[in-house]
Amino acid sequence: MDFDVKKEVQNFYGEIAKKKTCCSCQEISRAQRNYDGDYLENIPEDAIKASLGCANPLVFAELKEGETVLDLGSGGGIDVLMSSKFVGKTGKIYGLDMTDEMLELANKNKEKMGVENVEFIKGFIENIPLEDKTVDAIISNCVINLTEDKTKALSEAYRVLKDGGRLAIADVVSLRPVSQEIKKQAQLWAGCISGAMPIEDYKLILKNIGFKDISIEPVHIYTKAIIDGLDFDKTLISKENLEEMDGAFAGAHIKAYKS
Ligand SMILES: C[S@@+](CC[C@H](N)C(=O)[O-])C[C@H]1O[C@@H](n2cnc3c(N)ncnc32)[C@H](O)[C@@H]1O
Repeated sequence: MDFDVKKEVQNFYGEIAKKKTCCSCQEISRAQRNYDGDYLENIPEDAIKASLGCANPLVFAELKEGETVLDLGSGGGIDVLMSSKFVGKTGKIYGLDMTDEMLELANKNKEKMGVENVEFIKGFIENIPLEDKTVDAIISNCVINLTEDKTKALSEAYRVLKDGGRLAIADVVSLRPVSQEIKKQAQLWAGCISGAMPIEDYKLILKNIGFKDISIEPVHIYTKAIIDGLDFDKTLISKENLEEMDGAFAGAHIKAYKS
């Protein structure tokens, strides 16, 4: 890549974290698209506004009372705070993120919700600051696509999972090839498009790491209307590239187990 992926992504989400607490409607509807039912109950409004996910990992993560959970790239904390309701007082949920502004926002949201079973930690998902075999379930929402070394990030997830533990993540996948121009745009990488992998490549990486019972199911096709609502700067992208992206990507449910 001819740009520094981590730096671009960190700047992009640092700016978003600063803006999210002062804006109004669109971000609420993005969260409402991904989370139905009672999921958003008792979640602070600023966490809902900062939601940047592509689906709801909690629908298939099957979190249980007393479990230890890790959210890779926890952002403003929405999935961590929702998970805290599932694992209860005897459980623990870690949110891991590399961006200071996001961690600050997540900690404010934790304080607003008044939960004690939550800890936000700073670090890279390619080098998770937790011991081997300490986590029952790993969740994540729209983050693996942002990393340059997906094998490293998913191998780290495997390392910290207990035997029998599960990976239940939402991520963007690509459904058909797109032009190199799209793949090389820093804005589109940071905006969760360019780094997305084809489903078969994703499955192969998971299989080679050792994951079993792998399933990847696209659930939200990225239509033009959805792409228009994403956070990257549309003025930097040509009309032709925006047209080409219509239907080429999707938010997917990805599940796999450590045997
Ligand atoms: C698209 S946002 C998603 C945030 C959150 N999961 C949500 O659903 O709202 C991506 C988040 O992942 C973090 N992130 C991206 N790459 C990372 C990496 N390599 N290590 C740690 N955090 C990362 C960013 O700082 C940002 O907060």
